[in-house]
Amino acid sequence: MSKTQKKRIGVLTGGGDCPGLNAVIRGVVKASIGTYDLEVIGIEDGYEGLIERRVVPMNWKKVSGILTQGGTILGSSNIANPFRWPVKDKAGKRTFSNVSDRVAEYVSELNLSNLVCIGGDGTMAIAHKLSQMGIRLIGVPKTIDNDIWGTDITFGFDSALGAATDAIDRIHSTAMSHHRVMVVEVMGRYAGWLALESGLAAGGDVILIPEIPLNMDIVCDFVVQRSTEGRRFSIVVVAEGVKAPGGKQVVKKIVENSTDPIRLGGIGHYIARLIETRTKLESRVTVLGHLQRGGTPSAYDRILATRFGVKAAELCYDGVGGVMVALRGTEIVTVPLSDVAGKSRTVPENHPLIEVARHVGTCLGDTLDK
Ligand code: F6P
Repeated sequence: MSKTQKKRIGVLTGGGDCPGLNAVIRGVVKASIGTYDLEVIGIEDGYEGLIERRVVPMNWKKVSGILTQGGTILGSSNIANPFRWPVKDKAGKRTFSNVSDRVAEYVSELNLSNLVCIGGDGTMAIAHKLSQMGIRLIGVPKTIDNDIWGTDITFGFDSALGAATDAIDRIHSTAMSHHRVMVVEVMGRYAGWLALESGLAAGGDVILIPEIPLNMDIVCDFVVQRSTEGRRFSIVVVAEGVKAPGGKQVVKKIVENSTDPIRLGGIGHYIARLIETRTKLESRVTVLGHLQRGGTPSAYDRILATRFGVKAAELCYDGVGGVMVALRGTEIVTVPLSDVAGKSRTVPENHPLIEVARHVGTCLGDTLDK
């Protein structure tokens, strides 16, 4: 790069999408161009674009009007991993290859001084490995699961919480009319944040999260007691990561070449079946699924995502690498990627929200309820 050439950075969105990704992209691009006089290149479909050499120049116009849009204008992939990229061997059999050197080469060909990687724990783990190879990387934590270590909250969570709460509110009225047990399965992977907070917000009678071992006798007794006391319906909010009696998580699908191949799903049906068989109370299941991930970001997420994006641009300008931006209290701070990689943030058993739930009579499916 000649002395007169502008510094150039790249931005990508990896992993499952969530509301607020576009707001981060917009924050990165506008602050980079407007404040720091940097050039920005968008990488398509997460790490896949770096492997397959698919990039687009970013400008002010490209990011105008995207603040309120869900999804990501750059596209994403939750299976592309430069350290485990599917290829065919000579016999045509699929195998995996480490193509990270190719990625490093491309980053240097593109003259990128920094790479901003917006994503979840899988994206952060890969970002850490790439930064160990000398690529100057800034991570931005996204996910509806809120399970990234090092930040108080991820953007995307608040929007998903709103969607899940709204859905449970709607289920409430039909549950009351038909005197049914309504089981609502929410996402969240191995963390119970989304179930706990949407359950609390929507007044779920039973909230089941992966962090609290499930005792179905307690749940069944609880819904029967409600029914005999004249509260003839119950709302059971269950996180997809809850283990069925016997200790196994219910797996919906295995996505072989993904950084985390397991796709959870189905525990809601399992629990509803058990409740109906044991209590004879009519039960129904709603799996909220990807509805929680789509749609427009909440005001909170738009602001948080914009703050993260602007901070990432500032760090690129300063030549910082190997860190993730994070929210601590009201401040945007940085956390070393080496601290974040390989960890996840689940609900602590003594979390104040768990105590609050108990105080308002919520059944958490554990023995303490007795
Ligand atoms: O991590 C976000 C998330 O939506 C999880 O809550 C869920 O388990 C998973 O992604 C679903 O992944 P996919 O989009 O591959 O089905």
